[in-house]
Amino acid sequence: MTNPLNKHLLDIASLPDKYLEAILQRTAFFAAEPREGIQRHQGRCIVNLFYENSTRTRVSFELAAKRLGADVINVDIAASSVKKGETLSDTVRTINALGVDALILRHAQSRAPHEIASLVDGSVINAGDGINEHPTQALLDAFTIQQRKGGIAGLTIAICGDIRHSRVAHSNIHCLSRLGAKIRLIAPQRFLPTEDYQPANVTCHTDMAEGLAGADVVMMLRIQFERIEGEPQPDIAQYRADYCLDQRLLKLANPDAFVMHPGPMNRMVEIADTVADDAQKSAILAQVKNGVFARMAVLDLLLTRSL
Ligand code: NCD
Repeated sequence: MTNPLNKHLLDIASLPDKYLEAILQRTAFFAAEPREGIQRHQGRCIVNLFYENSTRTRVSFELAAKRLGADVINVDIAASSVKKGETLSDTVRTINALGVDALILRHAQSRAPHEIASLVDGSVINAGDGINEHPTQALLDAFTIQQRKGGIAGLTIAICGDIRHSRVAHSNIHCLSRLGAKIRLIAPQRFLPTEDYQPANVTCHTDMAEGLAGADVVMMLRIQFERIEGEPQPDIAQYRADYCLDQRLLKLANPDAFVMHPGPMNRMVEIADTVADDAQKSAILAQVKNGVFARMAVLDLLLTRSL
C-alpha cells in the first residue's frame, strides 16, 4: 500500500519529527498572520466525512478550509447512503471519484483512516479514529502550550481522566513526549493505559495530589462513556470526589500552571466550573481558537505537498 506520510496526516505516532516541527511553525505563522491564508487554495475541494458527533473539530476544519479559500463539503451521514448500508470503503471511493483534494475523516473504528488512505487520490486527514488518535487536537494543544510557555521541552504536563479510551490523550502522549515534556498520567486504574502502552518519559498515578504536584500544565479529559458501554459504569460521585479538578487541587500544580480541555467538558465531573471559567488559568477557548490555525497549517502543507 502506498501511503506516503507527506500526503496524509494519519497519526502522530508515525509523523516524522521534521513534519511535526513544520506543522507547529506553520501554525504559528497563521496565528500571527491569519489573513495570509486568504485565497491560497482557491478551487480546491475539501470534504468533511464525520461518522461520529463533533462540534468544534468539524467546524474548525470547515473554517480552516474556508480561510484558505477552498470549497468545503460536509457530508451529512444521517442523510447519506450510509443509512442504506453502504460501506466506508464504497463511500470513500464515491467521494474520491467526485474529485477531492482532502478528505477529513472521523470514525468510531480505530485505524479507519489508515485503511482507506490508499483509496484516495488526495490527502486523508484523521479527525479522530476510535480510541486510537486525534492528531490535529494534539498539534493544536502543543501549539497552545508553546504559545503560553514559550516551549515544551522540560515541562511537566499532567493529563487526567479517561486516558485509556481517549484518542486525544494517545496523540498528546506521542506528541508532547517527543517534544521533550515529562508526562504524568492521572486516572483510576481502569482508565490508565494498558501495560504495553507506556513511552519512556511518562509516569502513571492514581492519586491526583501526587500527579498534580508541581505540574506546569494540567490537561483534563472527560470519561468516554460511549466507549465503555457494556462495562461496569463508574461511580460518578466517587469519581468527582477523587478526580474533579477544582481550585483546591489546582493549587498543588505550579503557581503559573494553566488548564486545558479538548472539550466537550462534563462540568462538575472532571472539571469544576470555577476552573473551567477561570479567565487566567483556563486555556480552553484558546485551544479552540488555535485549532483553526493548526488545521490551516495542516491543510496548507498537505495541499502544497510541503510535508
Ligand atoms: C474529543 C474527541 O472527539 O476525541 N473532542 C474533540 O475533538 N475536541 C474529545 C472527546 O470527545 O472527549
